[in-house]
Amino acid sequence: PRVLVLYGGQSSEHSVSCVTAAGVLGAIDTEAFDVIAIGITSTGQWTRPVTDPRSHGFGGAELPRVLPTESTVQLHSGAAGSSERSAELLEVHADGSSTALGRIDVVFPLLHGPFGEDGTLQGLLELAGLPYVGAGVLSSAMAMDKHFMKIAFVAAGLQVGPWVTLTDREWSQDPDAALERVRQLELPVFVKPARAGSSMGITRVEDHGQLQDAIAEARKHDPKVIVEQGIDGREIECGVLGSHDGAPARASLLGEIAVHDGSQAHQFYDFNAKYTDAAAADLSCPAELPEQVSEEIRRQAVIAFEALDAEGISRADFFYTTAGDVIINEVNTMPGFTPISMYPQMWKATGIGYTELITELLSLALQ
Ligand code: DAL
Ligand code: MG
Repeated sequence: PRVLVLYGGQSSEHSVSCVTAAGVLGAIDTEAFDVIAIGITSTGQWTRPVTDPRSHGFGGAELPRVLPTESTVQLHSGAAGSSERSAELLEVHADGSSTALGRIDVVFPLLHGPFGEDGTLQGLLELAGLPYVGAGVLSSAMAMDKHFMKIAFVAAGLQVGPWVTLTDREWSQDPDAALERVRQLELPVFVKPARAGSSMGITRVEDHGQLQDAIAEARKHDPKVIVEQGIDGREIECGVLGSHDGAPARASLLGEIAVHDGSQAHQFYDFNAKYTDAAAADLSCPAELPEQVSEEIRRQAVIAFEALDAEGISRADFFYTTAGDVIINEVNTMPGFTPISMYPQMWKATGIGYTELITELLSLALQ
């Protein structure tokens, strides 16, 4: 099958996506799949990459980016409703001429955040009649919005931490009332854009005087903000992988993230701790937990996957509290997917290597 690997994108996680693409393009089974990589610039232009995405990695002074080009790549689909659907890529040059880039069978949208992981791109692919890896429109949209995601978890009987949502209207019309609601939470709190990722725009707030600034920072990413009460406990993650023939989704062994206490620079697993400062946090897998707790977290990860109606891939992030409770924090429907990211690491520990995992995800999309 011919695979379209899409990466980059318009969200603040553009560079993370470039590194993920580098990993996937370097590992995908080229005997089984014919691959075309198309980059999306931060302004939304689809391009044939000028730089081989495989040269992207974090660690340099500059974060990798998809650069704009003079020609633009377009997706053309056969008429909806016709039984034989096809989707083709076309490169349109500056002088108006075009080059056919061929037919596509399946898309691997290696995109994080808004306009990639939030259901918008998934809607485009649905309209084009193209199968794709991962969650569908509603599921992606719900998991992108931390407010609605929590509501889905609560409805499925999972335990979430206390939180307050501030809509744009509330904040614009009556910030005092909004702040009053936030002050009901115990400190510290985490102020977050409702729809972003990789800890972008997140501030840990230890006194109420910092709230205004923290909310302003989050609003740079999203006019809708959520404030979560901090939870004392360990950060435990679980990879979930869809199954064939309607069987229940599979849960991986668990991973744990430990942000170094001594590090004043990172009081939580922030963007730099995630991607630029490898020494700031330890990822370990399998996490050392009592068997019964591990089983419970894996069970809940599958419940969360189903609560969101996810497909193919997701990573569920939990807190295992000092008091011994399991609290779900969030699910990412397109988790970080570089070879050293937690999701592939957890599956490796469970017995599915990176290349095999990519093949499995594509075959789930094609089934
Ligand atoms: N949003 C990032 C990529 C993650 O969850 O891994
Ligand atoms: Mg997380």
